[in-house]
Amino acid sequence: MMLFTPGPVAVHPAISKAQEQEMITHRGKQFQALYTPIISDLKTMLNAAEVHILTGSGTLGIEANVQNALPVGGKALVLSNGAFGDKLKEHCALYYETTFVRLNDAQGWNLQRAKPYIDAAAAKHVKLFAMVHHETSPGILNKAGEICRYAKEKGMLTLLDGTSAWPAYSLNHASDSVDFYSWATQKALGCPPGLVVISHSVDAAAAIEKAPVRSNFMNLKTYRKMSLKGETPFTPAISIIYSLHAALELLKKETQPAFIMRYDKMAAHVRARLVKMGFKLVTEPGFESGTVTAFFVQKNKEVNSTLQSKHQVKLGGGHADWAETTLRFCNMGDMDIGKLDKGLNALEHVKKELGV
Ligand SMILES: Cc1ncc(COP(=O)(O)O)c(C=O)c1O
Repeated sequence: MMLFTPGPVAVHPAISKAQEQEMITHRGKQFQALYTPIISDLKTMLNAAEVHILTGSGTLGIEANVQNALPVGGKALVLSNGAFGDKLKEHCALYYETTFVRLNDAQGWNLQRAKPYIDAAAAKHVKLFAMVHHETSPGILNKAGEICRYAKEKGMLTLLDGTSAWPAYSLNHASDSVDFYSWATQKALGCPPGLVVISHSVDAAAAIEKAPVRSNFMNLKTYRKMSLKGETPFTPAISIIYSLHAALELLKKETQPAFIMRYDKMAAHVRARLVKMGFKLVTEPGFESGTVTAFFVQKNKEVNSTLQSKHQVKLGGGHADWAETTLRFCNMGDMDIGKLDKGLNALEHVKKELGV
């Protein structure tokens, strides 16, 4: 089955193969020799003060960041424009008094739209600003850097859910004024699922030390302590760490700017062909995704199941507000224009066959 899905995605053979290496234990020199260079590379690429790897899915990293950010009685502001922004609000509301603002119709967040809400929140002593970097439900790339810089100037800690973002979009903790960040291995980097990478600024590290312990597995004070030894507090998914290492080696060889350009070109190709086929795209122009393209299509579920049964092609289903009216054509992982065209040709075929 060819996967044009929002994650898990098709895994490059070299990344897949890396998982087969002989098992080691997570205590001692062999593990430290694997783990420490990965952390060091990620710190450089994200310009982060600290990086930790947690075993679990994207949600684990988001919740760990949220619950380690503020003391009891803290207040948060969450801006959303899709299902994952809505979920982020749910995570924040478990621990903090949370103000929530939602954009509809696949509109993107930029500073102009966010500023009045940040100003109002700052006046009410809100100390945590949170939003999604790349909203996966219809594929919206929010202008997170300009918004976080402003929220930080207003005295807030900033937290981004980057689960489906990095490394398809750059993130620089220092210049983007981002304190807490997280992304999952099964999406843009094209690894198997199983790990979430969280990264922090100096301010985030200080906040973690002040926050109360709200769970044991997500207690980031423990991760900070163990990272001094080059280890994780709990047994990590070592096989996926091998694949993460292989994926980062490929990324370093290609360089991240070239990786981003390659993804942008693929997404532009998908958009152009979908429009040529007569589909209407979902996302507001100016906020297009380099990885996930949602388009309106009648009989969306029938189209996707026909693609699977007749062409071994699987697209991302419609999600959230767009569940019944759209499909998502994604270009992450082991992908190139030739493979995209196979999927797009199949879609063109099914479109005619079903008359949609
Ligand atoms: C932006 C975003 N946040 C959070 C999640 C949840 O990630 P997971 O299913 O890995 O927990 C996803 C999954 O697609 C996502 O795209």
